[in-house]
Amino acid sequence: MKRRLRSQDWFGASGKDGFIHRSSMKMQGLPDHVFDGRPVIGICNTWSELNPCNAGLRSLAEFVKRGIWEAGGLPLEFPVSSLGEDQMRPTAMMFRNLLAMDVEEAIRSHGIDGVVLLAGCDKTTPGQLMGAASVDLPTILISAGPALSGNFRGKTIASGTDTWKFSEEVRAGTMSTKDFVEAESAMSRSVGVCNTMGTASTMASLMEVLGVALPMNSAYPAVDARRGRLAHLTGNRIVQMVRDDLRLSKILRRASFENAIIANAALGGSTNAIVHLLAIAGRAGVPLSLDDFDLGSDVPLLVNCLPSGEYLMEEFCNAGGVPAVLNRILPLLREAATVEGRTLREIASSSQCYNDDVIRPLENPVRAKAGIRVLRGNIAPRGAIIKPSAATQSLLVHEGEAYVFSSVEDMKRKINDPDLPVTKDTVLVLQGCGPKGYPGMAEVGNMPIPSRLVKEGVRDMVRISDARMSGTAFGAVVLHVAPESSIGGPLALVKTGDRIRLDVDRGELAVLISEEEMMRRRSEWIPPQDLTPRGYAKLFKDHVMQADTGADFDFLVGASGSEVVRESH
Ligand code: FES
Repeated sequence: MKRRLRSQDWFGASGKDGFIHRSSMKMQGLPDHVFDGRPVIGICNTWSELNPCNAGLRSLAEFVKRGIWEAGGLPLEFPVSSLGEDQMRPTAMMFRNLLAMDVEEAIRSHGIDGVVLLAGCDKTTPGQLMGAASVDLPTILISAGPALSGNFRGKTIASGTDTWKFSEEVRAGTMSTKDFVEAESAMSRSVGVCNTMGTASTMASLMEVLGVALPMNSAYPAVDARRGRLAHLTGNRIVQMVRDDLRLSKILRRASFENAIIANAALGGSTNAIVHLLAIAGRAGVPLSLDDFDLGSDVPLLVNCLPSGEYLMEEFCNAGGVPAVLNRILPLLREAATVEGRTLREIASSSQCYNDDVIRPLENPVRAKAGIRVLRGNIAPRGAIIKPSAATQSLLVHEGEAYVFSSVEDMKRKINDPDLPVTKDTVLVLQGCGPKGYPGMAEVGNMPIPSRLVKEGVRDMVRISDARMSGTAFGAVVLHVAPESSIGGPLALVKTGDRIRLDVDRGELAVLISEEEMMRRRSEWIPPQDLTPRGYAKLFKDHVMQADTGADFDFLVGASGSEVVRESH
């Protein structure tokens, strides 16, 4: 017998409620027969001109709709807020949880049976999946796709990664401001997300690995016709998922998160994946902790893409994308369901790689060990992280004197001071940039190298903070120190001149002072003044959790499901 779908409570109802719901929809030219009990599919779109990375989603939604109509569903597109990483202040991360609330409530409150999430720029992917996981309808995600590779005077250039390099060159006096401005046009040749394995492409790739997006979701360029075809197929697939009642809770299991951690290591994926995977797992009710990320620490780096390697997403696409990576790491993968219908291991075993330099075989990796290393010690009792594949290898075991910046403003004021008392061995420490402190845990952890040292040729130093860093950034950068300094975490007690020891192999991060001295400093510590007395920033500061648990709001963890008991009229 045909299952009565959730949407029928809206569009199949008799009396005035059904009249109101159907009549209102008919304003858009929909005829009677589309309310016959067919799957109603919401297309949750983060398209926005304020977020150019997602600008292609406006037209991509049309391909999704074609696929839904063709498969016998009724598509209804709706907007949610869009988060442009390089456009929002103080940081897009402060709004990830707001987007997740927007998505969750938009899905639950409407008469839809399944959802297609249209995501792109960094936080739009986790924000959408977090919200959808708390409702748990059949859900599939398609990404905006990477922008075309940049090209400056005949040389391929990468979003983000080359920005950091060019700005250092300007500071070093080896690039003119005129050339710098010319390069910014050459970098952005099309809409789409950053074309490195930055946070957006990392998260788009992990959507395939988690099993919530179709194969090749991350790799087809934003303006490639194959992305339109993938969107059409995504529309086809969601209708069948509704018929099969294939909900997110059947996909997002512990095994899928373990696969994501392992694949993230092989990808050389962004450190931001940690907070996002932890937050998504929290919504899906899957137990996952920071320590689980050590699962990836012995996995070799296979994907030779910036910022850990050489190539860009176009080459990654031509080499076979995520399915090719999964094929390479097949022996490490757990069995897990996907929205495509096949298991992840079935997808992996039927895929192949077309370029052994871009996606390396296990026996010839870019680096023998990649992944994210979790660090602990008296500076970070609840953990900190580093991405060894993006760091200067000689700095992964290092001891040096701390130079402490009390805030990002303090750092910006002093970093170009020619008399700043630092050497290449100094450990730069930045306080006040955690989830509550910034607020929003901005991507400022990859502090610039002090100007004087840049001129001497120094390009990497050990840097420690409770901030995040862009997925396109690189360096010996320790991030996500928890608990953060602005709530009195031990990072707040580190002083200029303290010796700090980092040992990535051993997973250790310590300030070399006695426990007594630590306690003395704690008794003298004064909490920073709260500069956010009202509005969403206050809600954020009052409820955001620490980085080691995903920085979701404490009251959003878990799911409420799709039931809405009360009617509107
Ligand atoms: Fe949007 Fe990089 S700034 S993906």
